[in-house]
Amino acid sequence: MSLASMAESTRNVTIRWRIPPPIIALLLFLPIVAGSYFKPFNVSYDHRALIVAGKRRMLVSAGVHYPRATPQMWPDLIAKSKEGGADVVQTYVFWSGHEPVKGQYNFEGRYDLVKFVKLVGSSGLFLHLRIGPYVCAEWNFGGFPVWLRDVPGIEFRTDNEPFKKEMQKFVTKIVDLMREAEMFCWQGGPVIMLQIENEYGDVEKSYGQKGKDYVKWAASMALGLGAGVPWVMCKQTDAPDNILDACNGYYCDGFKPNSKTKPVLWTEDWDGWYTKWGGSLPHRPAEDLAFAVARFYQRGGSFQNYYMNACEHSMLSPVCAAYINESVRRLQYFGGTNFGRTSGGPFYITSYDYDAPLDEYGLRSEPKWGHLKDLHAAIKLCEPALVAADAPQYKKLGSNQEAHIYHGDGETGGKVCAAFLANIDEHKTAYVKFNGQSYTLPPWSVSILPDCRHVAYNTAKVGAQTSVKTVEPARPPLGSMSILQKVARQDSASYISKSWMALKEPIGIWGENNFTTQGLLEHLNVTKDQSDYLWHKTRISVTEDDISFWKKNGANPTLSVDSMRDVLRVFVNKQLSGSIVGHWVKAVQPVLFVQGNNDLLLLTQTVGLQNYGAFLEKDGAGFRGKAKLTGFKNGDVDLSKSSWTYQVGLKGEAEKVYSVEHNEKAEWSTLETEASPSIFMWYKTYFNTPDGTDPVVLDLGSMGKGQAWVNGHHIGRYWSIIAQKDGCDKTCDYRGAYTSDKCTTNCGKPTQTSYGTPRGNCEKFSTGKCHASKSLSVVSEACKGRNSCFIEVSNAAFQSDPCKGTLKTLAVMARCSPSQNTSCLRQRETASD
Ligand code: GAL
Repeated sequence: MSLASMAESTRNVTIRWRIPPPIIALLLFLPIVAGSYFKPFNVSYDHRALIVAGKRRMLVSAGVHYPRATPQMWPDLIAKSKEGGADVVQTYVFWSGHEPVKGQYNFEGRYDLVKFVKLVGSSGLFLHLRIGPYVCAEWNFGGFPVWLRDVPGIEFRTDNEPFKKEMQKFVTKIVDLMREAEMFCWQGGPVIMLQIENEYGDVEKSYGQKGKDYVKWAASMALGLGAGVPWVMCKQTDAPDNILDACNGYYCDGFKPNSKTKPVLWTEDWDGWYTKWGGSLPHRPAEDLAFAVARFYQRGGSFQNYYMNACEHSMLSPVCAAYINESVRRLQYFGGTNFGRTSGGPFYITSYDYDAPLDEYGLRSEPKWGHLKDLHAAIKLCEPALVAADAPQYKKLGSNQEAHIYHGDGETGGKVCAAFLANIDEHKTAYVKFNGQSYTLPPWSVSILPDCRHVAYNTAKVGAQTSVKTVEPARPPLGSMSILQKVARQDSASYISKSWMALKEPIGIWGENNFTTQGLLEHLNVTKDQSDYLWHKTRISVTEDDISFWKKNGANPTLSVDSMRDVLRVFVNKQLSGSIVGHWVKAVQPVLFVQGNNDLLLLTQTVGLQNYGAFLEKDGAGFRGKAKLTGFKNGDVDLSKSSWTYQVGLKGEAEKVYSVEHNEKAEWSTLETEASPSIFMWYKTYFNTPDGTDPVVLDLGSMGKGQAWVNGHHIGRYWSIIAQKDGCDKTCDYRGAYTSDKCTTNCGKPTQTSYGTPRGNCEKFSTGKCHASKSLSVVSEACKGRNSCFIEVSNAAFQSDPCKGTLKTLAVMARCSPSQNTSCLRQRETASD
């Protein structure tokens, strides 16, 4: 495999990997049955619950964002969601990934939405598809494609014709896609519910009457698409009558939808929280999460979704149970990754782990998943009674203790009864009497009695087995060795090829596609977010008088910018003067000039575009306000009016030096002891594909800031920025209301050091029922002896159709000879009918 990395201010480079690939060439079709997954059914609702195929249901949902994993991971993620007790998978739809260029759609690879939905269906789970298309989600620009800013006259998320036109076009596209693939439940597919907009209630006021009109328009536009399943608008108290209103938050047990005819839905149960570069890692205790969920069903809730699926960001959710049992190492891969430059901002990290912090080695062990799995089992036992009653019967058991009892006629005849006993006291255990029996309720806990008598579960009693995560470092810690010593040691241990190579990235304007204009331009207007980087260059002439003036005063001139985001690097004559990091902060940077002409270079960088709030289209990046040089003899130099030369991105980006196809074209040199690395360097190496099926983790903790690619896949930004020293709790008490700054960890350490590669489950295949007999020969012919190959997965290419009407997947595992200095394992997966 090849690893390429672009590093800014690199201190040193380390890589963790594991060892050689197996000598196997295995090839098969894994069929995914197309067509009906269920007998077609309808979904409606009453005040109590969603009515699925004619029956009220108590549903548990697991959030899995398909582009935050790879297609190879999806089957496992979905299967484990089911195993953990989920009935539903929930995902947003990511517009920016599906329409990266206006009018050009992408439904391939991690964005193969239909494939994901089919996998959910084939596992027997339902799907809640939140189309948005604004999604927030800590995703770059809230999921909007950045080109949307350039639509003339556009204002996002309000009664604005250009916006409504684009939004309608995209939402229609997705609904049509689902309908054409027969993915709606009334077609036998898994989609039981949709979502339009996302938490618009939070920003609606900013748009005045136009905001209210927009809500009505969005609702009727969505309903007009004839999807035939309920639509949700979360956190939308003015959601029209035929649209469901839903709650998001840490607790939703007090939630009342905006109409007595609507059920109580919880679309986002935040089982952790996201992290910023330089932040500590949030952690929500399992007991508290279980308490919140139990309280929700206790007080009339009927649909609850873990945001995110704990597999993606924590071990809190039941859906992860199997991972822990099987191999905790998987968790880091399922950690949910903002691959490429998809993480939102300001400053959200590459991992969307949400609560399962990757430690220095990318691992941490917790028992919490099992606790929630048990909770779901208990809730399932209560389901007959929960759906039989129109409302719970309420009994006060003490000053801070209460019972909710659900009883009625069971579906198969006979009476059913379930009860929840809650102690919401944060400190004291309560001893209560219920139906003539005594019960002990730990503080901040709920006991679940599926027969109104026996306690099947208490949220504060973690009965789940504790798993111990093991860190399997590739090699002993390398301490403070130099990069070359490390490389040498790694080589001798056969861990890595002798192939660390480096390529200097030029400082400043590097190519012909630059342009010069008067004044400072807004960063995104220039980059269109095609790169994080924008170079600005201007010439400053300095007189002898200026120099003597500075000498005399003992002071140097200073660059002063009113406001900037996210990172600014200041260079004078190609030497770095300083770097400023912040989100719309004032920047003041002393600079040293020489007599005569000086090149002042400013490099602005984005680290995830804003994803939350009103007026996103106006947010922009780079500089705001004035920029000047102060301290000159003849007064300040107003840089806002100077002539600037602009260049978007880095040369290596333009030349795709990170890609399998193009990297050889660049002039890489071997990494030599005396080599003095520039502030901007590209590094690449090759390593054998690690054995086994576990995810590979790169430990980039000793790097500076940059981006990394594996086999040409952009795996994300990295930054070894250290979290503040203070603020982490020594102990974590589950009792009492959770907030994201409670129980945080990792203070004083880099926020993220481990990065997973977007690769799949080699070695885990077995020949499916739908196997094309020519598979091996077709693939061997196309690939043997080549560094890369392309195989179209079509009936024509494989000269037969072993199972008509079935979606096929081609799995290829290959081994290259270790002596080859080329990208080793390449895997391509395509689907066709
Ligand atoms: C919600 C939003 C989600 C996500 C979450 C925080 O407000 O709807 O998309 O951003 O916050 O993780």
